[in-house]
Amino acid sequence: MKISVYHTPESTPANTIPECAIVIDVLRATTTIGTALDNGAKSVQAFSDIDLLLAESDKLPLESRLRLGERGGKKVDSCDLGNSPLDCSSEVVKDKQLFISTTNGTRSLQRVQSAKTVIAAAIINYGAVVNYLKEHKPATVWLLGSGWEGGYSLEDTVCAGAIASELVNLSNLDEIGNDEVISAIALYRQWEDNLLGLFHLCSHGQRLLKLNLDDDLKYCANKNIISTFPLQSQKGIFTIHN
Ligand code: MLT
Repeated sequence: MKISVYHTPESTPANTIPECAIVIDVLRATTTIGTALDNGAKSVQAFSDIDLLLAESDKLPLESRLRLGERGGKKVDSCDLGNSPLDCSSEVVKDKQLFISTTNGTRSLQRVQSAKTVIAAAIINYGAVVNYLKEHKPATVWLLGSGWEGGYSLEDTVCAGAIASELVNLSNLDEIGNDEVISAIALYRQWEDNLLGLFHLCSHGQRLLKLNLDDDLKYCANKNIISTFPLQSQKGIFTIHN
């Protein structure tokens, strides 16, 4: 397994795709998608464009769908919910088909949707993703952060580091795809016992705190509270992997 870390979809190399792409948007898209599927949602379809989301979800009866939309951390008016994992309780999402569009996370998912395997990972479930990678051993793996509007974000890189630290042997150069893997592991090792503290420091954490979303930050910082993860079953559509 050769593992590379990319901080944003914009920083990935053009015209190439890994065998396995792990998309990370800890605050909050991949945490929300993972939570919704774990709580019984049938599927989650990701869109970078809200109008496309509205058109596609219109094909389903109201009672079997839910629309989740976020821009700048806030709920999009035309949607049922924003992007809070805490809104995705089993009472709300069970047996529903979800449609989601967020500022950055859904663009990352779109960038790698043609990879053979696409997984959405977060702090709440990265252990299950590590186990899957150890079992399936894809030849090339990208740990792809979502960042914020093209820029780096600490919370995605620390999650990439959590995954890489369990898979990469730093004395085996064949496993290290780029320098970013080494820096992600170093970041994780510095903050692994205080992820919530890191989320309070980082710029998107600050943005969410200004919107009084402290509880979202706390939830997103919980390591491995679920043992499932979202796996792409058709382009852009995620279902649960147990
Ligand atoms: C994103 O896609 O940028 C995020 O998930 C934003 C958020 O809702 O916190």
